[in-house]
Amino acid sequence: MAVLDQLTSQDAIALEDKYGAHNYHPLPVVLSRGEGVHVWDAEGKKYYDFLSAYSAVNQGHCHPKIVGAMTQQAQTLTLTSRAFYNDMLGRYEKYASEYFGFDKLLPMNTGAEAVETAIKLARKWAYEKKGVAEHEAKIIVCENNFHGRTTTIISFSNDQDARKNFGPYTPGFVKIAYDDVNALEQALSEHDNVAGFLVEPIQGEAGVYVPSEGYLTKAKELCEKHNVLFIADEVQTGIARTGKLLAVDHENVKPDILILGKALSGGAYPVSAVLANDSIMNVIKPGQHGSTFGGNPVAAAVAMAALDVVRDEKLAENADALGALFRSEMDAYIQNSNIVTLVRGKGLLNAIVINDTEDSSTAWDICMALKENGLLAKPTHGNIIRFAPPLVMNREQLLDCVAIITNTLKEFER
Ligand SMILES: Cc1ncc(COP(=O)(O)O)c(C=O)c1O
Repeated sequence: MAVLDQLTSQDAIALEDKYGAHNYHPLPVVLSRGEGVHVWDAEGKKYYDFLSAYSAVNQGHCHPKIVGAMTQQAQTLTLTSRAFYNDMLGRYEKYASEYFGFDKLLPMNTGAEAVETAIKLARKWAYEKKGVAEHEAKIIVCENNFHGRTTTIISFSNDQDARKNFGPYTPGFVKIAYDDVNALEQALSEHDNVAGFLVEPIQGEAGVYVPSEGYLTKAKELCEKHNVLFIADEVQTGIARTGKLLAVDHENVKPDILILGKALSGGAYPVSAVLANDSIMNVIKPGQHGSTFGGNPVAAAVAMAALDVVRDEKLAENADALGALFRSEMDAYIQNSNIVTLVRGKGLLNAIVINDTEDSSTAWDICMALKENGLLAKPTHGNIIRFAPPLVMNREQLLDCVAIITNTLKEFER
């Protein structure tokens, strides 16, 4: 079988089932093409993508500028490793540092790697700048966080599926309730060896939990007071998704360490990054951290193009306007619904909560019906469905999607 032979959906699923590890539970749809806000399955059926690969495809599928930059660079130079300089990385580091307002960028590939990088950076800063005794540094994290899948990261998860039988766990983390300034204040006063506070500005995987207004501002103030680094994981919320370039921008909070991934490449290529100012970033010296692929020329070209698209096409402004429209349309529907209890979110990162028990299959069944009706979304944690379309969607398409969603929900009203 040639690699590019046309497969039926059934064949593709059977192949994955037999030869792939069963570490995901995908919706049974096999996608073979994407363009803008749409994807097509192996049989040619067209869908609206309402997940955007967990907010990686903010710029839309196969954006011509991003794919153009990628193919051009791929024909020129793909990988040098960091054993040598390449003529793209410095340009990208300057571009992205200025774009996000930091002195320096450390390039990695996946979101989890960038989180790991931020943890290492914060610990090293604590030992070398704050004077924390060796091996004593703590990082404060939040209940119900999602920061990725590495051994260290799952050590401070409270998702049993993510943790169970993967121990022993990495020590050095203090877990507090999310959206609870008092809990943070208490943890900071109980521990004098804290390096950083690692937080998602909106908890995406947990079910799109938007914290109370002022939470991030107060948390940043407390971190400053205690000489603790405020580390924002914007892997899912960043790059225009929530209606601002970064979700922390809603409160004008400047993180000490910023973690980016996913849409940093528009979903074209694995690109992640950690940004910080010199006083923090300069604690990392040659040989102390790195990645063979991190900062490769293709990643650099792709990320610059992806960030250009966000700015040129005003994706944050679009996400803000369409997000408000989406929530108001959904709110109007919910007034007379007994299957959906609420819609919440910011920009185009939203979720609806289904009126059923946590372990019911209703959210999954609704996603299956949405698929039949031409829209792809996925439940997250129990009875919640996340809605995160590409940010290049227009108003007419969004209203079309609202009609698909509300008509589908009507099939489930009781
Ligand atoms: C907030 C957050 N951090 C980190 C990650 C991990 O990113 P990756 O899957 O690229 O490792 C994710 C992925 O969903 C995420 O949502």
